[in-house]
Amino acid sequence: MRRQIPQFEIDIDSLGQKGVGIGTNDEGRVVHVRGGPPGSRVIAQVFDRKKGTWFARRVGLVRPPSPAATPKCVVFGACGGCQLQEMPLESQRAAKVAWAANAVAAGRPTPTPHPVRGAPSDYGYRNRLELTFGNRRWLVDADMAAGLPMLGNFLGFHAPTRFDRIVDVERCEIASERVNLLLAAVRRVALAPDAPPAWDTRAHKGFWRFLGLREGTATNELMVILYTSSDGPEEAVEAVANELLAVDLGDAKLVGVVWKADDGHADVARGEVRRVWGRPWFYECLGDTTFRLSPESFFQTSTKGAEVLVETIGEALGRGGTLVDLYCGTGTIGLSLASRYSRVVGVEEVEAAVVDARANAADNSVNATFIVSRVEDVLASITEVEGPRRLCVDPPRAGLHPRVAKALAEAHAERLVYVACNPESLGRDRVVLEAGGWRMTDLWVVDLFPQTGHVEVVARFDKDQT
Ligand SMILES: C[S@@+](CC[C@H](N)C(=O)[O-])C[C@H]1O[C@@H](n2cnc3c(N)ncnc32)[C@H](O)[C@@H]1O
Repeated sequence: MRRQIPQFEIDIDSLGQKGVGIGTNDEGRVVHVRGGPPGSRVIAQVFDRKKGTWFARRVGLVRPPSPAATPKCVVFGACGGCQLQEMPLESQRAAKVAWAANAVAAGRPTPTPHPVRGAPSDYGYRNRLELTFGNRRWLVDADMAAGLPMLGNFLGFHAPTRFDRIVDVERCEIASERVNLLLAAVRRVALAPDAPPAWDTRAHKGFWRFLGLREGTATNELMVILYTSSDGPEEAVEAVANELLAVDLGDAKLVGVVWKADDGHADVARGEVRRVWGRPWFYECLGDTTFRLSPESFFQTSTKGAEVLVETIGEALGRGGTLVDLYCGTGTIGLSLASRYSRVVGVEEVEAAVVDARANAADNSVNATFIVSRVEDVLASITEVEGPRRLCVDPPRAGLHPRVAKALAEAHAERLVYVACNPESLGRDRVVLEAGGWRMTDLWVVDLFPQTGHVEVVARFDKDQT
């Protein structure tokens, strides 16, 4: 007989990494609970233990947080993407600030963060969705009770920790209404009973693989990317494209449908372009800057939130001299703030992103140089940029490479601004920066992604003049 994993009740006191709730159980043990919103009491079941900390999932709700909000999403809990929907926006933001400020401080003297800033909308803000087709659906208890089949054609998000199960999603509440109209159009045709089969991740066969939906929030331009294997008829894709192009999007326009095919086993949306209806790029604006984006170009996934973030970074950086934009992606930060500096130098390891950044610099008549390289490999050329310069770093979640942190610690510059999507990485890297004479002098928390556990932190560093 299988041993029952014990369950216990626990009060959730605060927020942690990736939106997990943190509480202390009756024996004084710290427990990280997936799906436990701060302020609630939940029934938790442990699935892992590390260094004295327990990691658990919520299996029941004893008391919701107060005040509470009603989740908009019908697959809330199963999807795992927007865990904070049971909290009103103000409570979500208060919990994010408390977590972020504590993680950044890491026990050192730290400026009090400015009042939290954020995306103006709590739902409907996301400008990009990537959904997965699959032939096995994730069933919650109610689905099983209703006798829903597990096998078929489905389209949605991977169930947490299950590579082979799809949480079937009819709409995504953090995306806009027009993105949801396009999603519905794809579902009508690609999931119809006579449509080719969805990809089977275990057998590595099937036709429909991924769906990309992208939107220029400020330009009203949309793009759809259909990813399939090569094992299916072109007419099936054409039928989806025709359905999409017939959707009434009001003021907005679907400017391109791109079909890509790939037979590789990796669970990654990619492929050779097979056919394009319309054009394979769309435009988006951030403030006064226009960005031309191709199907895989990176762009901040909340345009309105990104405007708030970029304004905050500009405020932190101050004006004048050369702006050195490290981990620049498609140049969002440097290009948007370019009018405040004599020149922009960006470094990014993904070549396609740099190609976009250069094109966007030319389109916007910006004096910018973008270098394709890992930041850690071009440190000398960065720290030796002539004249006064301001440094901006926006690294991935893991934070700075140790060589980069050390070089920045020793660099002479007017100012250094660290943009962190993982406040814990900033809490670690600041120790190295401060050993080189930098001091954290200002701190902002920006909530780009309401309902999710994500948060951005902007920290300004100035060098001791002694
Ligand atoms: C958090 S994103 C920032 C993107 C950009 N600043 C923006 O706002 O759009 C981090 C970027 O760093 C790039 N990256 C990751 N590791 C890198 C490295 N070692 N050197 C250079 N770029 C890197 C990633 O490809 C990604 O574009």
